[in-house]
Amino acid sequence: MTSFVRNQWYVAAYGSEIGRTLFSRTVCSEPLLLWRTEAGAVTAMADRCVHRRFPLSQQPSRLDGDQVVCGYHGFTYGADGACVSVPGQQRIPRTARLATYPVVEQDSFVWVWIGEPEGADAELIPRAPWLDRPGWSVVSGMEPLAARYGLLVDNLLDLSHETYLHGGYIGTPEVAETPITTEVDEAAGIVRVSRHMEDAACPPFYAESTGIEGRITRWQDIEYHAPCLYLLHSRIAPVGTPPPRSDGSDPGAFHVEVVYAITPETDGSTHDFWAVARDFALEDEKVTDFLRENNRTVVLQDVVALEVLEKAVASEPPGRQELSINIDTGGLAARRILGRLREEGERRPEPATR
Ligand code: FES
Ligand SMILES: [Fe+2]
Repeated sequence: MTSFVRNQWYVAAYGSEIGRTLFSRTVCSEPLLLWRTEAGAVTAMADRCVHRRFPLSQQPSRLDGDQVVCGYHGFTYGADGACVSVPGQQRIPRTARLATYPVVEQDSFVWVWIGEPEGADAELIPRAPWLDRPGWSVVSGMEPLAARYGLLVDNLLDLSHETYLHGGYIGTPEVAETPITTEVDEAAGIVRVSRHMEDAACPPFYAESTGIEGRITRWQDIEYHAPCLYLLHSRIAPVGTPPPRSDGSDPGAFHVEVVYAITPETDGSTHDFWAVARDFALEDEKVTDFLRENNRTVVLQDVVALEVLEKAVASEPPGRQELSINIDTGGLAARRILGRLREEGERRPEPATR
């Protein structure tokens, strides 16, 4: 029994990470081998040779055209996972096949389906179109987090912590002071948390990047698509700027789309993918560099805090009580949805090929 939600799409990598070399990343405790075929398609398969379990991502294993050659005794696999040659004999055992994973490359991410392949419907993958669209500039990264993924979900759904943990970067007093509204779409597995600050201090993250000097209207509209994708629609405008028009245009404001992909690595570790897309100062390298450095610093502040928290939680007996208040409404809704998805994911039978 693990805490993972199976039969779901997860971000395994940025598309830019995967090329013509063997790349490995563990998702939901499944070690994946990722590589790009000569035609450019990303493939994902088990990163363990069927012979003696040597990790195929490790030297001297290698890619030879569209085949993976195990570096231990030479078992060779095609892009479909089937073994095409073994040493010392003509006959290839029928079971000599690597499990493969459905893959979709979209919005700069490589999504993999963890579960029974027949359930992998690409239409279910939530979108983050700003990451790969004209009119937006993007900085991004991934930080390893030695904490269970649920702690990162809690963290991102309750941004009141910005005031305390990220003061001097993105936090100001108004974030913690302003009440939230929460909407939950149980069926779709989406939690929305909004906090609209009509007259707030402008934190350095936005003052430096937008050039705004006075106070701001600051809207934070979160959309969490359980289990993996988190979107923060951030709107920043000088106080007094008209609100968005009915057609959705909003020429007086600056828009930042903060995207996280929260991918469990193991029960106690998480891949913390983060990206910041902006619709202003598109070509300004100084703004790009500033946002990359500043956001990474903020992400690392969370990483440090969550790793401390993981140690504390892991050392306690199970069932230790927490105390929740209004700010936790979104996080509690997310936990409820994840619990339901986990149960649904476990009820399905294991596929015969795994
Ligand atoms: S472990 Fe891969 S060929 Fe033996
Ligand atoms: Fe944070």
